Amino acid sequence: MCGIIGYTGASQALPILVHGIHTLSYRGYDSAGVSIFRDGALIVRKDKGRIGDLAPTWSRIELAGTCGIGHTRWATHGEPSQKNAHPQVDASEGVALVHNGILENDIALREGLEAEGVVFASDTDTEVFAHLFSRNFDGDPIAAARVLLEKCHGHFALAIQHHLMPDTLIAVRRGSPLLVGLGVGENLVASDVLALVGRAYHTIEMADEQIAVVTPESATVYDKHGNEVEVERKPLDASELTVGKEGFPHYMLKEIHEQPERLYELITARMDLQHDHVRLDDLGLDDDAWRSIERVDLIGCGTAHYACFYGAYVLEALAGIPTRALQAHEYDARLPVIDDKTLVIAVSQSGETADTKVAVDLAVSQGARTIGVLNVRESFIGRAVDGVLDIHAGREVGVASTKAYTSMLTALLLLTLRAAEARGRGDEIVGRLGRAMRGIPQAIRQVMLSSELIGEVAREIHRANNMLFLGRGADATTALEGALKMKEISYIHAEGYAAGEMKHGPIALVSWEVPTVAIATAGPWRDRMIGNMREIRAREGLVIAVAADDDDDAPKVADFVLPVPTVDPWIAPIVNVVPLQLLAYETAKRRGCDIDQPRNLAKTVTVQ
Ligand code: F6R
Repeated sequence: MCGIIGYTGASQALPILVHGIHTLSYRGYDSAGVSIFRDGALIVRKDKGRIGDLAPTWSRIELAGTCGIGHTRWATHGEPSQKNAHPQVDASEGVALVHNGILENDIALREGLEAEGVVFASDTDTEVFAHLFSRNFDGDPIAAARVLLEKCHGHFALAIQHHLMPDTLIAVRRGSPLLVGLGVGENLVASDVLALVGRAYHTIEMADEQIAVVTPESATVYDKHGNEVEVERKPLDASELTVGKEGFPHYMLKEIHEQPERLYELITARMDLQHDHVRLDDLGLDDDAWRSIERVDLIGCGTAHYACFYGAYVLEALAGIPTRALQAHEYDARLPVIDDKTLVIAVSQSGETADTKVAVDLAVSQGARTIGVLNVRESFIGRAVDGVLDIHAGREVGVASTKAYTSMLTALLLLTLRAAEARGRGDEIVGRLGRAMRGIPQAIRQVMLSSELIGEVAREIHRANNMLFLGRGADATTALEGALKMKEISYIHAEGYAAGEMKHGPIALVSWEVPTVAIATAGPWRDRMIGNMREIRAREGLVIAVAADDDDDAPKVADFVLPVPTVDPWIAPIVNVVPLQLLAYETAKRRGCDIDQPRNLAKTVTVQ
């Protein structure tokens, strides 16, 4: 949830660290800091706030130096504040350290250190590492780092500086990603390859339980026993990684607009329309394996969990496999009955979500087959599952997920068609839906044409404090996701419901101050949705319908209609969510919110 950057070379470290922190800010951004070696000491500057506000207050002269570490934080242990920001230092301020992840036995270690007389200056678990490293350093950084690996439980990535090693960075990894970037006469460490672009030409991806010692001329990696290990140096192709806004004012808007292209590529890569066949052989599930599955558990969090809801509708209805969508963080609490006839599908954009990883570990330990529906194949979850279906959304930078969601839905539908095919239900379904899927990119492009109208609706609702989102069938999922997008980036309290639930309670909320978004596109649920809209209007509620562009009734029961083209009802949720993404975006814009980095949120939630 945090970001690490470290630099050692001949250039001034400060601008490189600040640039790296900027790049990593999508991971968390409630405080930031740097430490730079200068004149025999480590100079630390850090505070609560965003790097864009903090960096101009840091003196270039005080922080002149060519070796340093930087960090952007999303608070877990201790509130965002100056004292809790990273780098953390030991009592003598001879060690500075930045940390991603969680130290699980921090209380015991902290009490042990306090008993030895250490006085802690922060509320963070990170400070424990700094004291431990300092107390075990006798000139050998590898020995001190090995103590951290021995004594500390949990998962962590660390970058460390010691004032007696002016041009050296020490990196330690267990669980959380960490890379070494190799440049010319300079080297770096970072928690994400993005932060290395522009300076490094090769990267070394550290494995768990490894220690790296990095100087301007060398990078040597050791295992937890202190033995040097062979590492692969991969070329860094910046063109594949650099993500700009490409003229859009926000990443979120750019990513919404990328959806047609992304989905086109995913569908054409996986659908063989000539033979009505879905190409998913790389998942390692042949027809027999699909036939032997007795239940599917779809697990994910947040937006990914809503994608799981959709997956459960289609897998059960179209492929005939009993399926449930579960929140990954509740999975172990259910003591789920799992065996080798259970397929557990982990859905995750980042592939690094700790809650989802823990649920996957449980499934693996109980003998389930596992698949990851992921945007990052080479990730924590990607390495834990039996097979990965890459959703191919491209890097998503906006904290509120958009293109990853529609790609997850599309991937889950492809998976469903493959399962239907293997289980003898595919004849009609694969051809019909496969062909219909080819129309998704164009349908989404058509929705984009309503951007101006969506802007007008946003103007109407942007002062609301509460909203409702309703849908039925697989579009109940769209209602949940629409509400989540609205609350995440506009901070309007929004609830999503399957519309049948209204009369059982939520209708009490309807009033002229509470706009309701109702998804009522063509399909089996359309008439009942029209009924829901009538009931809301009868109670003076403002209704915004997402309806087919040729629906004559919708304008009679709604104050605004966001038109969408008619597609197969099983595919509709992939299209219907797009006007809701745009509505959330336009509303947040009018409320002056920080769209790409909403308050309190982090792009990747690597703690439970
Ligand atoms: C919402 C959002 C989050 C994530 C959730 C899971 O816009 O992005 O709800 O969906 O934190 O993240 P991943 O998909 O990375 O596992």
